[in-house]
Amino acid sequence: MKVSNEDGTFRNTYFQFEQNGETLTGKLFGRNIQGTLIKGTVKDGTVHFETVPPVREAGTPPNDIQYRAVVFEGKIEGDKIELENVNRKLKGMAERTTKEAATPPAALPLPPLRNLPDNNLVRTPPMGWNSWNKFAGKVTAEDVRGMADAIVATGMDKLGYVYVNIDDTWEAGRDAQGNITTNRKFPDMKALVDYVHSKGLKVGIYSSPGPTTCAGYEGSFGHEVQDAKTYAAWGIDYLKYDLCGARTIYSSNEENHRGLYQKMGEALQQSGRPIVFSLCQYGENDPWKWGTETGGNLWRTTGDISDKWESMDRIGFSQIAISSYTRPGHWNDPDMLEIGNGGMTGDEYRTHMSLWSMLAAPLIAGNDLRSMSDETKSILMNKEVIAVDQDAAAKPVQVLASVSKVETLWRPMADGSIIVGVFNRGEDIATSNLQLSKIPGFAGKKLKMRDLWLHRDVPTKGDQYTALVPKHGVVLLKVRAQ
Ligand code: GLA
Repeated sequence: MKVSNEDGTFRNTYFQFEQNGETLTGKLFGRNIQGTLIKGTVKDGTVHFETVPPVREAGTPPNDIQYRAVVFEGKIEGDKIELENVNRKLKGMAERTTKEAATPPAALPLPPLRNLPDNNLVRTPPMGWNSWNKFAGKVTAEDVRGMADAIVATGMDKLGYVYVNIDDTWEAGRDAQGNITTNRKFPDMKALVDYVHSKGLKVGIYSSPGPTTCAGYEGSFGHEVQDAKTYAAWGIDYLKYDLCGARTIYSSNEENHRGLYQKMGEALQQSGRPIVFSLCQYGENDPWKWGTETGGNLWRTTGDISDKWESMDRIGFSQIAISSYTRPGHWNDPDMLEIGNGGMTGDEYRTHMSLWSMLAAPLIAGNDLRSMSDETKSILMNKEVIAVDQDAAAKPVQVLASVSKVETLWRPMADGSIIVGVFNRGEDIATSNLQLSKIPGFAGKKLKMRDLWLHRDVPTKGDQYTALVPKHGVVLLKVRAQ
């Protein structure tokens, strides 16, 4: 089934049908996804079926991608079927093809594993913007220019937001020499990069170790060295490398994932340009243990975030256990920010920003920076919270107390102060009685505290600090001995 992406490219989905009277069975396969046909019927020239994904094996890492049945309806036109993916309202023509055309290419050998040298980039967690969370497949070069303008106009660049990252769907195919080309939405990548650089910012791009990306666009499979050179020639500063299409060729284990990422890590290091390397394989096979060795600067630790409290809460609080793997130049990446996208309350977005900062996570905004409300700006541009994220010591966050739905986290800063975050994950306002003597190293000392959201010093009374924390909200304190 060939569906137009409206940018000069098409995405193909492959089906294997078996008809038995009015019953249709079969498989959906190819690209990144696989599925089984259920409820399939062929009747009066029409086709109906649903596809369900394979059941994930028990023990695989949490994945936020929502797997549900996808409904297809079609009309038989001679030897073709006019088919619609009803869930996504995508229409296309399904034509007969060969099994070979629909089968992913054979695996290419992966390099022998070795430790790549450190590229010395992103000594503090990378900060910037990425197109995916807000624009997904609709992002254009004009949007990217607009974001660069907005970063400078708002002063976000002065706070550290410097990477302007183009996610999936910029790709077209390959020219006769095998060079990757851009689609209609990105008519001149070099000119776009030059423009963003002229604003004093840096540019990120996206690809996959597979033949196709998650959105079904051209990936780097078999073209790693060539693509790294193209990125360098365009002036690219950052690559997000997303497993997706490689899944159909290489099974998910540590050796394969290390090999796939090392291959591009080497290509980037030989490209002649310093390029930040961002691994995206959804935290499978514990990349926090080996991502650095592939030349990686950051690695996704979970499936995709969505602009909902449940998603952000689940992802964010699952990171504390692996927070000790983060170190300068090598960061856990619990996915990009949803702040300002409208699906959460102000308190929830303040929790998002506070938690990501306590985790020393990359701060990659995912909203439309050209039209931010004052509240969104006050969250993304809270200097005092950004300073927590960017702290040079990059020490891990730890749990101080966990009482019913109130989670109190602490993290030591390079200057000897300690950040304490009181997070209310519950559905009602909570009163938190923070016992200051419990803060490691501070027993018996006179303390000075500052509330990083109220932007003022707050008084302590004896050993207790009582804070009212709104539902899904946070009180973030910087505590130091006087
Ligand atoms: C995956 C990634 C996302 C985004 C999309 C693009 O789902 O995890 O962050 O890059 O692919 O297709």
